[in-house]
Amino acid sequence: MEFEHFTLKPLLIIMAIIFLQQNHLLVVCLDMNCKFPAIFNFGDSNSDTGGLSAAFGQAPPPNGQTFFHSPHGRFSDGRLLIDLIAERLGLPYLSAFLDSIGSNFNHGANFATAGSTIRPQNTTISQSGYSPFDLNVQLAQYSDFLKRSQIIRKREGFFQKLLPEEDYFSRALYTFDIGQNDLTAGYKLNLSTEQVKAYVPDVLGQFSNVIEQVYGLGGRSFWIHNTGPVGCLPYIMDRFLVTAAEIDKYGCSSPYNEVAEYFNLRLKETLVKLRNELPLAAITYVDLYSVKYSLISQAKKLGKLMFNEIIIIITGFENPFEVCCGHGGKYNYNRFIKCGTKSVVNGTEIVLAKSCSDPSVRISWDGTHFTEAANKWIFDQIVDGSFSYPRIPLKFACNRLIG
Ligand SMILES: *[C@@H]1O[C@H](CO)[C@@H](O)[C@H](O)[C@H]1NC(C)=O
Ligand SMILES: *[C@@H]1O[C@H](CO)[C@@H](O)[C@H](O)[C@H]1NC(C)=O
Ligand SMILES: *[C@@H]1O[C@H](CO)[C@@H](O)[C@H](O)[C@H]1NC(C)=O
Repeated sequence: MEFEHFTLKPLLIIMAIIFLQQNHLLVVCLDMNCKFPAIFNFGDSNSDTGGLSAAFGQAPPPNGQTFFHSPHGRFSDGRLLIDLIAERLGLPYLSAFLDSIGSNFNHGANFATAGSTIRPQNTTISQSGYSPFDLNVQLAQYSDFLKRSQIIRKREGFFQKLLPEEDYFSRALYTFDIGQNDLTAGYKLNLSTEQVKAYVPDVLGQFSNVIEQVYGLGGRSFWIHNTGPVGCLPYIMDRFLVTAAEIDKYGCSSPYNEVAEYFNLRLKETLVKLRNELPLAAITYVDLYSVKYSLISQAKKLGKLMFNEIIIIITGFENPFEVCCGHGGKYNYNRFIKCGTKSVVNGTEIVLAKSCSDPSVRISWDGTHFTEAANKWIFDQIVDGSFSYPRIPLKFACNRLIG
């Protein structure tokens, strides 16, 4: 039976599947809506809701200004995709595992930190900017959380309200958005595109190992974002010089996108293999690359109002490479004067890298991360499963459609 092109209406909860089996007609009714009670997220800054801030100091204002009205541990003016996912599943925003202040893990935990990679890096955060909380560390933290939360929960009282119920771990949605920094790490070591490609299998081997271990600990539903078009991000275009021939027709840098596409191709293959190896796992690959690339390449044409899958074209976004919160340079981006950087001029403190006046018409918040407006647009494209493989909407991602 072919499910891949089966269009699932988001509101359809009951789906009838008809199997023809040795002349017997079997009608099976499945409740497709997963009702995920929790989310456990692993990743980098694309889904960090306060991890790096808890460990190394808060993301400065104007981060958070649009939605939270103050810094909220995120590198954006507002909500990230993981926040929009939580909202759509009717769950609270995820607390960062590392954040000991005001956190509530009743409906999940976020192990992501900005600057995280899949592979451990051989440098410190002060040398290279990469987070020490790589995916292996995030897995260790998750494993510890799983065991200890159940011990602590037995103390009763308010701990019951702060920690997940035991069965949440097998019923939860496990989300992953990581890999972008593994690719850029090689370039920062002056490796060539060929050399970066050569280590991609090792990166994905380690990724695969983590999925297997989460599965071994009881995780069943996996929602995995592929990596975005890093060659379209101002922080890459500013840092690594590319020749005119390497700039594509939309203004992005081809070699960096090519390596991201290569990573994604191999990631997709890795997940096909994992699906065969893990009989009870529902693994959804989400092609964020295509969504982000179409956002950037068609920025000006795209409207921001979505109505019943019809895009109503209104003002659209402005120049996708013009950074909202930054300072100077070709893209309003300078890696030494990042969003929120302050300076003292004649005894008075001023913010050198401020927010633009209207982040809602910008795509790039700070040269590396997307604005809330861009994140919302991206979320609207992926939520119904249009960019998923297998083609399954977010709310149904516990169903294993391809066996
Ligand atoms: C770090 O160093 C070890 C030992 O030399 C090596 O095996 C590993 O691949 C290195 N990691 C990265 C990300 O380069
Ligand atoms: C990479 O090359 C640049 C420019 O030649 C140099 O300044 C930098 O030290 C090199 N980085 C590494 C890690 O070798
Ligand atoms: C700082 O003060 C000096 C002397 O009053 C003045 O010439 C200069 O323009 C001031 N700089 C700024 C950025 O205001």
